[in-house]
Amino acid sequence: MTTPAPHLVGNFAPVVDELTSHDLPVTGSVPRGLTGWYLRNGPNPHEAASAHWFLGSGMVHGVRLEAGRATSYRNRWVRNSTFTDDAMVYDELGNRDLTAGASNTSVVRHAGRVLALSESTLPYLLTPELDTAGAHDFGGKLRTAMTAHPKTCPTTGELHFFGCGMLTAPYLTYHRTNAAGELTVSRDITGVGSTMMHDFALTAEHVVFMDLPVVFDVERAISGLPMPYRWDPSYAARLGVLRRDDPHGEVRWFDIDPCYVFHVPNAHDEGDGIVLSVIRYPELWRTDSGEAYPVASLWRWTVNLTTGKVTEEQLDDRNTEFPRIDDRLAGLDARHVHTVVAASHPRHDPVPGALLRYDMHTGSVTEHTFGPGRIPSEAAFAPADDRPGGEGWLMTFVYDASTDKSDLVIVDAGDLGAPPVATIHLPQRVPYGFHGSWLPDPGTRVGDVGRR
Ligand SMILES: [Fe+2]
Repeated sequence: MTTPAPHLVGNFAPVVDELTSHDLPVTGSVPRGLTGWYLRNGPNPHEAASAHWFLGSGMVHGVRLEAGRATSYRNRWVRNSTFTDDAMVYDELGNRDLTAGASNTSVVRHAGRVLALSESTLPYLLTPELDTAGAHDFGGKLRTAMTAHPKTCPTTGELHFFGCGMLTAPYLTYHRTNAAGELTVSRDITGVGSTMMHDFALTAEHVVFMDLPVVFDVERAISGLPMPYRWDPSYAARLGVLRRDDPHGEVRWFDIDPCYVFHVPNAHDEGDGIVLSVIRYPELWRTDSGEAYPVASLWRWTVNLTTGKVTEEQLDDRNTEFPRIDDRLAGLDARHVHTVVAASHPRHDPVPGALLRYDMHTGSVTEHTFGPGRIPSEAAFAPADDRPGGEGWLMTFVYDASTDKSDLVIVDAGDLGAPPVATIHLPQRVPYGFHGSWLPDPGTRVGDVGRR
């Protein structure tokens, strides 16, 4: 009898039922100002077990809040072509099927469309009931996959993102839509290898790409390893800066120390430079087969566009991941970054985790812990008013090992030391997953109904 892989046991194991449940029990009080859906995506392999945590079929879990009540929970697989027809990302001839993949990494809304995303696949449209409405290729204009970490500019409403090739160039293509969701820019960026590019940075004036030394490895792919990427010490680490007002213009490259970064909390322009916050791994997958996750911590990179130098500073030494900000400050000088301590990777022993709130202006940190055996996931920021950077809540799925169930927990982002504002008890556990969004109903004005 073989031992299940770490990414298939405990709360990494998939759930088998798609549920719809109404009038959820709540401890505490759901803020009356919150009306909308909290949606979160993550791997939930169906039928056969997945070969790697990153490869399980996507399942979106959603909790509906309405003016002080938690009115429903539902969870649905993202029915992409791999789910419905076993479609392969590449066929035997090396042809790529952009509808195939996992669709398991994030869920975002732009121009009224709710999109389930993973970086090897086209976005998939979801209905308000979380049914899958098909792949979305922006009217046939999108010819690459789409990162799971697009950025919406709060000033213009544009959606900025990229797509990566894997076996053949171009390995990096930059895309932009207008506020209506129409694809207006698609531009290949040459000179980049087949690197694993998971996220990027947006500022008011720039787009920043991370060309880092975790690269596609043909030998690993041929040998059947589920994660065909490895650390390449000969591959230079660098940042590529593109001006937003010249999207087809030059990309300037800036060398940095070797490292890997999955996630960029935020970035902004400052003087003649760009300041990025990143969750930095000193290296990744050098000797292992793509399943170990070293300690990652919060760093700041400051790109001096005049001298060409990048200053790199570690801001904290805690092991942390899944950073989020008030998305209304994307690309601007957001004061607060929220992260999860001891993110529950399959190769780590799950330990009682915590949410952190970093004050990027003062360096102070506040923390919320959830008690023994209670493990949080990424926390989305839900605004309490119309002021970007103002008050709000963090909402996260918390797994309770003692009950083998999960709650949606809402805490006051400005008072993390306080008990949760609301703990919404769900009818089943929510496996550890990746990224989600708070999607207030269109037209909802939090200030109209009060903060509590
Ligand atoms: Fe991610």
